[in-house]
Amino acid sequence: MKNVKDIGSAELIIDDKVFNFSLIEGSMGEKAVDLSTLRRETGLVTYDVGLVNSGIAASDITFVDGEKGILLYRGYKVEDLALNCMFLEVAYLLIFKKLPTVDERKYFSKLMNLNSMIHEDIKNFFSTYPEHAHPMAILSAMVVSLSSFYPEISDDTHKEPFLHTVTMLLSKMRTIAAFSYKKSIGQPFVYPSYKYRYCENFLNMMFASPVDDYQIDPVLERALNTFLILHADHEQNCSTTVVRTVGSSGANLYASVSAGICALWGPLHGGANQAVIEMLEEIYKGGMKPQEAIELAKRKNSKMRLMGFGHRIYKTYDPRAKIAKSTCETLLKHLKKNNDPLLDIAMELEERALRDPYFQDRNLYPNVDFFTGVAYRAMGIPTNMFTVIFAIGRLPGWIAHWLEMKTDPDQKLMRPRQIYAGEPLRDFVPVEKR
Ligand code: ACO
Repeated sequence: MKNVKDIGSAELIIDDKVFNFSLIEGSMGEKAVDLSTLRRETGLVTYDVGLVNSGIAASDITFVDGEKGILLYRGYKVEDLALNCMFLEVAYLLIFKKLPTVDERKYFSKLMNLNSMIHEDIKNFFSTYPEHAHPMAILSAMVVSLSSFYPEISDDTHKEPFLHTVTMLLSKMRTIAAFSYKKSIGQPFVYPSYKYRYCENFLNMMFASPVDDYQIDPVLERALNTFLILHADHEQNCSTTVVRTVGSSGANLYASVSAGICALWGPLHGGANQAVIEMLEEIYKGGMKPQEAIELAKRKNSKMRLMGFGHRIYKTYDPRAKIAKSTCETLLKHLKKNNDPLLDIAMELEERALRDPYFQDRNLYPNVDFFTGVAYRAMGIPTNMFTVIFAIGRLPGWIAHWLEMKTDPDQKLMRPRQIYAGEPLRDFVPVEKR
């Protein structure tokens, strides 16, 4: 296993029989028991619902310390990257393990431009969707469809052809995302342009129209760039695990990413940014006080959760949420939107929840989705596009994990076990006797 040290062994005693398993340590001191031979040696499997305790890979992409609130991409602090990098540099870092040189960055951007348009026939797909189709559904379907329009996409992970596969997906997915928005509002598609940078291009495709020469606001571009970097990877989260799982069967990158988009859609994962705004709107329109919403979220038999709060890994303030919060505040000030009632509710919810023993005892802090939802709304992005933007941001992480999984000789077809808890063996009953 790469970069993993053997640091001793752990004993498991079953019916007086002693079994030894290796203790291993990762490059940032994370320790684990290697149970890969458990079933072979003992006949037992582990029971770990939600894989809460299970490491599914030795990965060198992203490090998260949920107790200390540390997030590193390839060893760099997310704070430094968010402050100093363009999203595409971070994408390059995640996928190709190093920050690009000036020449590498130029070449990467050139390929991004060359690959930015989608096949004209793909546009026909958009017209077959009903008007209010969720753009995540369109995005997922279109991404998997790309593999039939571009059969030349490479599964070969050597740098050059794979660079084309990667830039094609990174660039075209952004175009599809913007087109799906235009479709939902009944406006003509705006094509990508070589004259814009990555985020400028997306904003222009979203907001320009034949009758309105949209002026790209550099503060909006900067904010979007920051949010995409914050979303770029988060190790073995739900959607990334899906991408790795689908890829482990030998499915191509586009099919694997399409499945990841579906996993991200759920409100407990990336869909939380949309759910945050829907919750704030419900509180506002229902005339509920923030404290009442908090009390409801705490009640055991209530279905309500404080969306944008809590995280499987972070038991302290999410480092991404800190950056998202200050970026959101800068943006709102710039857009002169500091008197948005939803924002007031969001800020009060945050303040009250952080002081509340229920949230303190369970280590529930705002996550990245809490503030990005508010910011996207201020930018004029419709609610159902929030998770699409998250998907655009998460794409480099998905690609990096797919690539890592493909090239790691230790990886296997993902196929967990279960504990069967159904009917024991019983006799078949013919239909006339049931
Ligand atoms: N509001 C109220 N209570 C909560 C919340 C919340 N947002 N989150 C967790 N809790 C409570 C649970 O009810 C549970 O309480 P209990 O111990 O009394 O039963 C306890 O905190 C632990 O919660 P779990 O659901 O077991 O924690 P888990 O790690 O499985 O869940 C999750 C993490 C899914 C993110 C959860 O916190 C949640 O639903 N949050 C709201 C949705 C959200 O914001 N998701 C985005 C996550 S970030 C991302 O994917 C990019």
